[in-house]
Amino acid sequence: MNAGIISTGHDYPDGVLTNADLEKLVETSDEWITTRTGIKQRHKAADDEYTSQFGVRAAQKAIDRANISIDDIEIIVCATTTPDQILPSTGCLIQKELGANNAAAMDVVAACSGFLYGITMVESMIRTGQIKHALVIGAEVLTKYVDYSDRSTCVIFGDGAGAAILGPVAEDKGILATKIMSDGRYDEQLFAPGGGSRNGWTPEVLENRDNCFKMRGNELFKVAVRSMSKVSKEMLEKTGYTVDDVKMVIPHQANQRITDAVASRLKVPEEKVYSNIAEHGNTSAASIPIALDECLRDEKIVEGDLVLMTAFGGGVTWGGTLVRF
Ligand code: UT7
Repeated sequence: MNAGIISTGHDYPDGVLTNADLEKLVETSDEWITTRTGIKQRHKAADDEYTSQFGVRAAQKAIDRANISIDDIEIIVCATTTPDQILPSTGCLIQKELGANNAAAMDVVAACSGFLYGITMVESMIRTGQIKHALVIGAEVLTKYVDYSDRSTCVIFGDGAGAAILGPVAEDKGILATKIMSDGRYDEQLFAPGGGSRNGWTPEVLENRDNCFKMRGNELFKVAVRSMSKVSKEMLEKTGYTVDDVKMVIPHQANQRITDAVASRLKVPEEKVYSNIAEHGNTSAASIPIALDECLRDEKIVEGDLVLMTAFGGGVTWGGTLVRF
């Protein structure tokens, strides 16, 4: 038995922050944001909306489409860097709302690679028969952790959630290869240094906005391209496939120029590389499952198709997963 992705779902806030809105907040322009990132708008949670709400809605859609009972779910992994609260995990809060009381629930903090981390963790549990069904969610409300006075960071992030039900499938289908990696030596390329046990909620932390994300975007850009290209090639080499066999590449939606650079290194034509960054921006752990669900809903991916997903995020973390639907 292989572990396969048997259904997906996604959800995002109704609120929208356009490039024109950002022009009113920081010294930037629609032209700069569009040419440097490909982003035109991003969805933004209202003050009274929070991460688990979007996770629950995305998960419920995936559960309904999987045709399983809620008690069939034996583990819930929620990938998020923007939890509802420090304790309990957002996974547990989502479990409660879903009534998935036959499951273990937890969070994975691996930034934008979190969804592929979750997939990789549950894949072996399903393949070895330890569990049958898993719910993996990527959910973020990044806009509450963004410093809207820092133009080099605030323009890229948006909110949303995507979810997948994984379960046993025939051996020629499902997850054919998956790999996750990290390199903590790059910890300060994307980080929120305040608001934890090292630098608590002091007046200085709040004044410096050290509880918000700080990003060395330009340096991160190069590592992102290198890491996603390398792990993607590894996934193909390991399974003996080539990019010609792949129906769709779904990269983490970090920046359109990163996506284009990865596509060029992999020698994949533009039409085989999915992009929704113009509408959603960078939704971190939610970006791949949102993109995957959009592809499945629009039948850009159908049964039998080979799909290559690759992610990169703060930590730094990265990963690649090759799946036959
Ligand atoms: O999600 C996974 C982790 N995150 C990423 O992978 C993000 C990767 N990085 C990026 O997407 C890009 O680096 C950014 C979009 C964040 C920035 O784009 P860039 O092309 O790397 O710009 P830069 O940081 O090299 O800055 C170039 C110039 C600077 O001005 P000077 O020094 O050349 O005069 C910046 O001050 O652009 C300026 N700049 C802006 N100008 C207008 C930076 N942000 C903005 C802005 N509007 N929003």
